Amino acid sequence: MNSYVPESLPPCSVIEDFLSDWFRKCFAKTFPDVDLAGAGSVAVATNPDFGDFQCNDAMPLAKTLKMPPRKIAEQIVSNASLPGVIESLEVAGPGFINIKLDDTFISGRAVSIGNDEQSCIPQCGAGKTVVIDYSSPNVAKPMHIGHIRSTVIGAALDNLYRALGFNVVADNHIGDWGTQFGIIIMGYRHFIDHEKLEESPAAELERVYVKSYAKAGEDESWMDKCRAELVKLQNGDAENLALWKEFIRLSRIEFDKTYERLGVSFDITRGESYYQDALAGIVERLKDNGLARKSEGAIIVDLSDEDQGVCIVQKSDGAFNYATTDIATVDSRVTEFSPARIIYVTDERQQLHFKQFFNICRKAGIAPETTELEHVWFGLMRLPEGTFSTRQGNVIKLESLLDEAEVRALAIIKDSRPNMPEEEAKELSKHIGIGAIKYADLSQDPRTLITFTWDKALSLDGNSGPYLQYAYARICSVMAKYKEQFPETEPSDYPLILGDELERAIALKLALFPGTVRKAALTYRPCVLADYLFDLAQAYSSFYQRVPFLKAEEGIRESRIRLCGIVAGVLSKGLSLLGINTPERI
Ligand code: ARG
Repeated sequence: MNSYVPESLPPCSVIEDFLSDWFRKCFAKTFPDVDLAGAGSVAVATNPDFGDFQCNDAMPLAKTLKMPPRKIAEQIVSNASLPGVIESLEVAGPGFINIKLDDTFISGRAVSIGNDEQSCIPQCGAGKTVVIDYSSPNVAKPMHIGHIRSTVIGAALDNLYRALGFNVVADNHIGDWGTQFGIIIMGYRHFIDHEKLEESPAAELERVYVKSYAKAGEDESWMDKCRAELVKLQNGDAENLALWKEFIRLSRIEFDKTYERLGVSFDITRGESYYQDALAGIVERLKDNGLARKSEGAIIVDLSDEDQGVCIVQKSDGAFNYATTDIATVDSRVTEFSPARIIYVTDERQQLHFKQFFNICRKAGIAPETTELEHVWFGLMRLPEGTFSTRQGNVIKLESLLDEAEVRALAIIKDSRPNMPEEEAKELSKHIGIGAIKYADLSQDPRTLITFTWDKALSLDGNSGPYLQYAYARICSVMAKYKEQFPETEPSDYPLILGDELERAIALKLALFPGTVRKAALTYRPCVLADYLFDLAQAYSSFYQRVPFLKAEEGIRESRIRLCGIVAGVLSKGLSLLGINTPERI
C-alpha cells in the first residue's frame, strides 16, 4: 500500500488543493504508464451524507484506460491511504470516490484558522498587483443605483483581493470630463441659485444639469451654446476651467460623504481628465498599427467582423470618446503598476464598451499578455414601486437610501431593546442599516436581476446582514457569559473535540473558509462568501439550540466555547471582507 503522508500541511494551504495534489499522485501511481492529463481533482462533496469531499475523475478515464470507471476508482482507492488526514475512502455509484476526513485533522484545521490572524486565507496574490476600477460616478450628475452597486461590489472585491495578498490599487475613475460639462456650464450660468449651491452643492449642480439637459433636448441653439462652452473649456478658457474645477471639488465633497458612510476608500481617484493629454497619441498609435481609420470624418476601429460593432475613437469634431480615455487609462496603468489584472465594476449596460476597448488594447499591444482585463458587470437592482419615498424619476439617491436604512434599523432596535441608551442605539442602527443594504446586494449573484425589499434586507431570521450580525453578537454573549462564570479557565487549554455530528459539520465548514474566500475573489462573486457565512451561522444556530454550552461538563464545555470563538472569528472576518461591521452587542 502506498501512502503519501504530507510532511506537514502548511496552515495557509487550501484543503481542496492539498487533497487534489495528493489524489493526482494516487492516480498517477496507480496507472504509471498512461497519461492521465492531471486527473484527480477533488471538490467539496455535493451531498454531505456521502462524505466530506469527492473525486469524480475516475469516470472520464474509462475510455483511456479501457476499464469500467468503478474498477478504476476501486484500484485507486485500494492503492491510497493517508492516515491522519483521511479516515475512509469509498467508491460509490458508477465510480465516484467519496472522501471522509479524519476528525483530528478537521479539528486541527479549525484550530489553525482560529489561531491565525488572517484566518489561514491563502496568500496566492503575493507579489502581484491588481487595479480595481470601481464606483466611478460622474461629476455634477447624480450617483445612481448602478454606482451604489459598483461601490459595494467593488469594495468587497477590493477587500477580498487584499486578503489574498494581492497589492491592490483601488482607483475611482470618476467621470470628470466630457460633453456633460458644456451642459452644466450653461446650466450654471443661467439657472444657479447661489444660496442653494452653498447649502447642498451636489443637489443644486444636479438640478441645473437636469434643467440645461432638458433644454438642450428641445432647443437646438441651446445645445449649440453648450457645445461652444465645452470647446472653450477644452481649449483652456480660464473662466470655464475655474468653473470645471469648482464642480469637481463640490462633487467630490459629496462623494466623500457617501464613501465615509459606507466605509469605502480608494488608493487613487483619477478622473477621466487625468488622461486627456494622452488621447491624441493613443489615436495616432491606433492609426499607425492599422487598427484605426478615417470614416465619415471620424476615426474608428471597425470590430464588426467580431460582432463588436464599430468603436469611434475620435469624433468628426475632433473630440475624443469614453473608449479613447479607457484605452489611455489601460496604457497608463500598465506602465505605472504592471498589474496582473485590471478589474472594472460597472452595470451590464456597458458590456459592449468593455469588450471593444479590451479587444483594441490587446490588438494594439497596449495590454500585454501578462495583464488580464476583466469586466465584472452586474444587473440593475429592481425596486418595487414605492420602496423609496425619495425617488425622483428612476434615480435613487444613495443618501436617502442609507438614511432610510438607518431609520428602519433604529425602529427594529428600539423594538427589541427598548432599554438601550439612545446614543448606543443610534450608533448600532448605522452598522445594521448599512450592513443590511450591503448584504442585500452582495448576497446575490451580481448578474441576476434582484428586487430589493426592506423586509428581506432587514429580516432577523432570513439570509440578511442583520441576521448574521445578530448571530455574531449572540456568540459573543455566550463567550462573555462563560468568562463571567469560569473566570479561571482558558478554553484553549482544552482540546477541540468533535463529539456531536453538528460540531463536526461546523468544524469542517470552518476548514473550508480559506478556499471559499479565494473562490469568491477569483470568480468575482462575493455571494460565494455570503452564502458560506449564512450556512455557517445557520449550522451554529442549530447546534446552539440543540446542545448545552455552559451547562455541559468540563472539557466538553470548553471545547464548545472554543468552537464558538472560531466561528465568531470567521463570521467577523468574512463579514468584514464584505465591508460589514460586527458589533458585539445587539
Ligand atoms: N463614469 C462611468 C459611468 O458612470 C463609469 C466608469 C467605469 N470605469 C471605466 N474605466 N470606464 O458610467
